[in-house]
Amino acid sequence: ADLTLSNTLRLPCIAEHYAEPRTLNALRHTLAEAERQQWPVTLLGGGSNVLLPLELPGLAIRPILNQWWLAYEGDEVLAHVGAGVNWHALVLGVAARGFWGIENLALIPGDCGAAPVQNIGAYGVELSDNLHAVQVMDLATGHIRWLSGAECAFGYRDSIFKRELNERVVITRLVLRLSRWPAPKLHYGDLASRLNDAPTPMEVANAVSAIRQEKLPDPRQLANAGSFFKNPVIPASQAQKLLSYYPEMPHFPQEKGLTKLAAGWLIDQCGLKGVREGAFGVHERQALVLVHHGGGDRQGLLDFACRIVEQVSARFDVLLEPEPRVIQP
Ligand code: EPU
Repeated sequence: ADLTLSNTLRLPCIAEHYAEPRTLNALRHTLAEAERQQWPVTLLGGGSNVLLPLELPGLAIRPILNQWWLAYEGDEVLAHVGAGVNWHALVLGVAARGFWGIENLALIPGDCGAAPVQNIGAYGVELSDNLHAVQVMDLATGHIRWLSGAECAFGYRDSIFKRELNERVVITRLVLRLSRWPAPKLHYGDLASRLNDAPTPMEVANAVSAIRQEKLPDPRQLANAGSFFKNPVIPASQAQKLLSYYPEMPHFPQEKGLTKLAAGWLIDQCGLKGVREGAFGVHERQALVLVHHGGGDRQGLLDFACRIVEQVSARFDVLLEPEPRVIQP
């Protein structure tokens, strides 16, 4: 199967085998077949946060579990969401019903099943803030089990699904905890200035969408995977030293004596915003996003990214790490 159009970076990729199971039973059968054939399994969602190789051996699976519904428990509203539901469609569906919790995460591309893997976050909210539980299927046995939010060990763009459970489970369902009561979170950037005093969740979602559309390229028009690098988290003492040279540097104090920097700012300061080398470039409105103009492959992109990492490291002594998942081989 040709996966070139199944990843938003449009990196050319041929998978040896490909399946789109539509039920838990079909997924279980697909996994059993992979086990019998000894195929390595790669899980895909919307393809908006992966760096695919030219050739992908074994079986690529995209679960199409695309039902979601709401359950009301007293004051609480729980959303049960199949892994194949489009994330932004869910955000709009929840906001349209007037419930609060995930409106700041509007317009993030990809499927809901991929959202916990990197703990998607934007505009002061992370998925983990509202995630109640995750249902997973064991790759080896096909057994279903549940993890609580705490068991997912969420961090900044991090979770147990990138670590202990990497290549061990398929995420099949999420349960999100939503609120009926107004709970706008408007402290990030200029979000508040775009809204009235008592916005609806849909108004917040629309404001976030507008900001994203101003800064981030639409993958349907210009191939990209959102932020290409994670924002680096460094010791506060090192950040203080950098601030003495660059007092205007954006910085966000974290727990445990750490400080988060803005990778986009660091790249921008190196004069790299908008540069293009062959097939790849740095987006002209947001230096954290690398774009693919066509004709390149993953190795070309990684080489380009490497040159950016080197320049940022030479100037700031800060090491940038890629944010999308590098799918082996
Ligand atoms: N900045 C620059 N130049 C740039 C880009 C950014 O100077 O080219 C500065 C901005 O002026 C601002 C700071 O860097 O002071 C932060 O920029 P921004 O608010 O645009 O956010 P970001 O740190 O670049 C992160 C997430 C985004 C998320 C936004 C909003 C990561 C890796 N990225 O970007 O997530 O939408 O915050 O919350 O954490 C993604 O993960 O794919 C993604 C798009």
